[in-house]
Formats: sequence, structure tokens, C-alpha cells
Amino acid sequence: MALTKEQIESNKAEVIDLLRQVKRDGIEKLIEWLDKKSDFFTAPSSTVFHGNYEGGLCEHSLNVYHALVRLKNAMSDMALEEKKFDNIKDGSLIIVALLHDICKSNYYTKEIKYWKDENASYNNQWKQYYAYTIDDKFPVGHGEKSVIMLQNFITLKQEEILAIRWHMTAYDPAVAVSPYEKPAFNKAMTICPLLVLLSMADVFAAQLMEKAGNPKIDNAV
Ligand SMILES: [Fe+2]
Ligand SMILES: [Fe+2]
Repeated sequence: MALTKEQIESNKAEVIDLLRQVKRDGIEKLIEWLDKKSDFFTAPSSTVFHGNYEGGLCEHSLNVYHALVRLKNAMSDMALEEKKFDNIKDGSLIIVALLHDICKSNYYTKEIKYWKDENASYNNQWKQYYAYTIDDKFPVGHGEKSVIMLQNFITLKQEEILAIRWHMTAYDPAVAVSPYEKPAFNKAMTICPLLVLLSMADVFAAQLMEKAGNPKIDNAV
């Protein structure tokens, strides 16, 4: 499971094209940072789970965007009157879907690991390979880190902040254990339809649209 150079380039072009549709101060600086100062377009989206290959993060972000647009359009008429999401702007869909995991930019690195070749006919059965590992240079969380990073470039709307901050829902350990975080999360879920939609699209993309690849990226020797 790997993406070709052409797929990676095509995904990058699609993301930049979508971001340029968002008319917001700072968006060009954000695009420039993604392109020139980060590995957003080539990074994996995990080490051993979905999208754990070059370009996986960008691919996942696009998958979430397409799932989110479909969810919003298909379910709009089913929501309670006071929770209708017709007024969620296209720009917000683009921002939260494509950039909810921007925290994973410049976040993964490669390290050498070892595996034992039981079938080897020689004595030294250990072989080396490269695998992705985490090197978090700004360990401030997951959703909250994405919000902080984005606010360096663009001003997020409140519903975008809530959606990105809490998009991991109960998978965020803080929600499970903290008496401060849990009520905030619960409240956010009730007042922010964009959060509900983003978290659904995120799970859909990760679990039903994406596969894990071989964690062995390349032979080291
Ligand atoms: Fe995430
Ligand atoms: Fe995600």
C-alpha cells in the first residue's frame, strides 16, 4: 500500500486548489508553510495504522474532506431544526477537513528497526529496515495543537476551533479522564454540528477508506 509520486503530487495540487477557494487573510502564507516548511504533503498519517506511508496524511485529509461534504449534503434535512447545518460555509468544511491533523506535520521521522529472518541460511538473521516513528517537537496535544498551529496563519471561526479541537472525540484520553475536559467536550458536541460531522468523516475515512501499509518502509541495508 503506497502512493505513487503522481498520486502524491495530484493530492497536493487538490489540497492547494481547495485551500485557495477559502477567502481568508493568511491563507497564502499557510499554503506556503505547508509546501516549503512542512512535510504535510509527504508525511504519513500514522506509524502503523491508516495511511502509514508517504503521502498518507495528505490523502487522509482529502478523504475526510470528501466524506465530510457528502455527509453534510446527505444528512442536512435529518438534523433537528435548531441544529441544522445548512449555514456551515464551504470554507469551514475545507479548513477543518484538510487541516484537522496539521499537528502531524513535521511530526514523524524514520528510524532503523530490526526484524529476524527465520529463513535465512546464514547465522546473522537480523535485518534492518526503516519505519516511521514519532518525534513530537511541540507536544501540546493533538486537536489543540492543530488549532494553535492554524491560528499562527489564519483566524479560525469558533465552530472551526471546536471541531478541530475535539475531532478525536472519546479517542482523546483527556475526554475520558479529565473532569475539566469532559464537560467541555460534551457541550461542544451539543452546540457544534460541524464537530459531529467532522468526527464522523474522520472515522469514516480512517476506518472505511484507508488501509495500513507495511510498516517496513525500506530496507536499511
Ligand atoms: Fe486527528
Ligand atoms: Fe484525522
